[in-house]
This record gives sequence, structure tokens and C-alpha cells, in this order.
Amino acid sequence: MEDYIVSGRAPLCGRLAVYGAKNAVLPILAGSILGSGAVFIKNCPRLSDVSYTLEILRRLGCRVEAEDGVVMVNPASASSWRLDAGPAGEMRSSVNFLGALVGRYGRAELPMPGGCRLGSRPIDLHIKAFREMGVSVESSGGMIYAEGRPRGADLRLDFPSVGATENVILAAVAAKGITTLNNAAREPEIADLCGFLTAMGAKIHGSGTGTIRVEGVPRLGGCEYEIMPDRIVAGTYMCAAAAAGGEIELENVVRPHVEAVAEALTRCGAEIAFSGDRALVRMRRPLRSPGVVRTEVYPGFPTDCQSQLMAVMACGRETGVIVENIFENRFRIVPELRRMGAEIRVSGPKAEVRGGALKGAELFAGDLRGGAALVVAALGARGESRVHGVDYIARGYQDLAGELRSVGAKIKQE
Ligand code: UD1
Repeated sequence: MEDYIVSGRAPLCGRLAVYGAKNAVLPILAGSILGSGAVFIKNCPRLSDVSYTLEILRRLGCRVEAEDGVVMVNPASASSWRLDAGPAGEMRSSVNFLGALVGRYGRAELPMPGGCRLGSRPIDLHIKAFREMGVSVESSGGMIYAEGRPRGADLRLDFPSVGATENVILAAVAAKGITTLNNAAREPEIADLCGFLTAMGAKIHGSGTGTIRVEGVPRLGGCEYEIMPDRIVAGTYMCAAAAAGGEIELENVVRPHVEAVAEALTRCGAEIAFSGDRALVRMRRPLRSPGVVRTEVYPGFPTDCQSQLMAVMACGRETGVIVENIFENRFRIVPELRRMGAEIRVSGPKAEVRGGALKGAELFAGDLRGGAALVVAALGARGESRVHGVDYIARGYQDLAGELRSVGAKIKQE
């Protein structure tokens, strides 16, 4: 596995284009097996999680081609409802294939999902919803077995889980009858999935709201669809500029998607101006504390940018607080930041971060966003850092080192 070598405190300057969203494209690729014709997915990011998903589709029997950011999936030749451990065991989002396979075949067999280790990450909400749709779901020996054609149902999630909302939608679009999902997640990636399925011929109302109504249709076709820009990548770039200083312009930004992160960084002292699909981020020191930042479901502050914000706070000299409300065990970067000189006190979901003059260190990424956050911290620290665990970062960032280098960061991969 390669490492990133980062020399901190080089101000960033230039323009970065934000590519397609990982968390949108993964459920969309799973949904591609629901149709009878080819789908063409534009603005598809080059990420290892996307490669795993394309491999899953091939193993299911789909024809898959990828060229210049456009992925073609033709599910006409697919015939398998079984996924073995291989690539499916690697990713949490392989659980989306449960809804898609059950929607297409009325049965599915797949490994319990893998992915970044963020607490226990159960799938009880998915399973409960499927059972209410008439699908029997059992798990044994690390595998999930589902059987039965989904039927429309009136459902309510106990928590607005992103994955469970996507899975219910995937199972409902081809189900018999109408499914109403209450307390659905409202993350923009769900509206993107609904947009894609609607382009295939699905009937979905209320996408992007807490109540989604899906009228099952007997047949879905192929389509062309462009993936939304990645709001977490945009947020990470903003945090990088805040930590390193300087001025960068981001292209392909949807303002409401990044508003919560922009607002927290503004409290840290960044100046952020939006114009059309661009955001100009300027940071002149000193970094200030954002006060208390709580992660929430959308449109609140996203848990996927929490570690990057913590890294920014660690680069300052004031004290601030982060409350992580979505995942347990999402403070894995704390020991790394402490080794760089930050003082951080964790108690339950709360972390009190007292910045220090961070110094470069040898750092170990333990998950995708945590890895990106360590790069952010290294950009703001004096001296050189070595970030181990580039493979984690490549799950969700397209050549992070190359992109940051193009705006003046001193970062290389070796
Ligand atoms: C998705 C995103 C992830 C993001 C998260 C929250 C993808 C591929 N991943 O993950 O990047 O951090 O949304 O915005 O889109 N939970 C249960 N039971 C369940 C399902 C979830 O208890 O059946 C809990 C989880 O353990 C977690 C919380 O609900 O504490 C949120 O999980 P969820 O919204 O489902 O996140 P994911 O879909 O896994």
C-alpha cells in the first residue's frame, strides 16, 4: 500500500472541479439491474468503490463498459441473484444489491456488507422494511438470504437511514402496488437515485422529502443519467483550503448541498462566496473556533465531513466542540491528531478540540473520510507528514494527491 508524503503550510491557489458523487453512483449502479435495457451513467467518478461495484455487476452477468467518465451497464444478459464474498464483501454499499436483486428476481443472496469500520453499522432497518414488504430475509454464516417478490406497503423507518431508504426504493419501483415510506432520509443522493429510476420509467413522488411514495411499475427500461457532484469531496476541498490557507475556486458545487459545511468553516474564519455552480474559498489566518458543531441528517452538518472539520479545528489555536450524532466510533483520527500536537478530549459522542501548532507526523488512516482528514491536518501542519492508508482514501477520492498538487499543495504519493 502506498503513502502520501505531505509538506504542510503551503497555501492553496487555483481551481478544482468536483466530480460525480460516490454515494449517489453506488446505489444507482445497483439500480441499473432493474431495467431491461442499457443505462449510460455520465460523470461517473473513478474510485475503487465504483470498480468493486462494476465487478459485482459483471459477476451478476451484466455487460459493463467504462470510458471517459461514462459507464454503460446492460443488464439484459444478467441471470444471477447471488453475490459471493469477493468485491461485495468489501463495501458497505453492496447492501443496495439486496433491494435491487429482490426487485428483479424476487430473491437475493449476498454477504453481510463490509466497508469502513464506523461502529456496528447494523442493517436491521433494511431487514424490517423488507419483511413488511413481504420478503423473507434471514442471515447466517455471514450471508444474507432473501426470498419473495416485494409488495407495496406502508412503511416507517425508526431512523431516516440513507441505505435503508435507498434499499426500500430499489425494491419498491418494480413491486406490485404502492409503497409509502415515512421518515425517509432526505440526503441529496436519494433524490439522485430517484431521478435515475424515474428516467428508467419508475413512478416516484416526494423524492428529497421525508415521505416517499413509489408506485410499482411492471417494466423499467434503459436511460442516460448524469450523477450529481460529490458534496463531501467539495466539503473536503473547502476544509483543505481552510487548513492550508490560500484561495481556491471550486467548480460543480450545489450550494444547498454544502451550506452546512460552508457555514461551519465561515465561523472558523474562512470567507466563502457562491456564484452559480462555483464556490470561492479564501482563508486568511488566524483560524478561529466554530464553537459547537453537531453532525445531523441532511440538511445538517454531514457526518462524512466531521473528521475533516476536526482536522481544521486542530490546526487553529482555539477550543471547539464536535458532537457526532450519526455514527459511533467516528473519532478514529483523534490519536493521530494528538500525535501532531492537538489536545482532544473525547467523552461519548462529544470531542473537545483544542488546536495547537500542529507538527508533521507519521499518520495512519483507519477509514475513508478519516484518511482525507489526516491529509487536511497534514496540509495545515508545520513540517512533513506521512499518511499511511491511501487505499482507504481511494475508495472515495479521485487522485486526492494529484488534485491538491494542482492547486499548490506539496503532496506526493510513494
Ligand atoms: C450512508 C453513506 C455514508 C454516510 C451515511 C450517513 C453511502 C454509500 N454511505 O451510509 O457515507 O456517512 O449514509 O449520511 O451512501 N443504522 C441502523 N440500522 C440500519 C441502518 C442504519 O441502526 O439498518 C444506523 C447506522 O448504524 C448509523 C445510522 O443509522 O449509526 C446512519 O446510517 P445510514 O444512514 O444507514 O448510513 P449508510 O447508508 O450506511
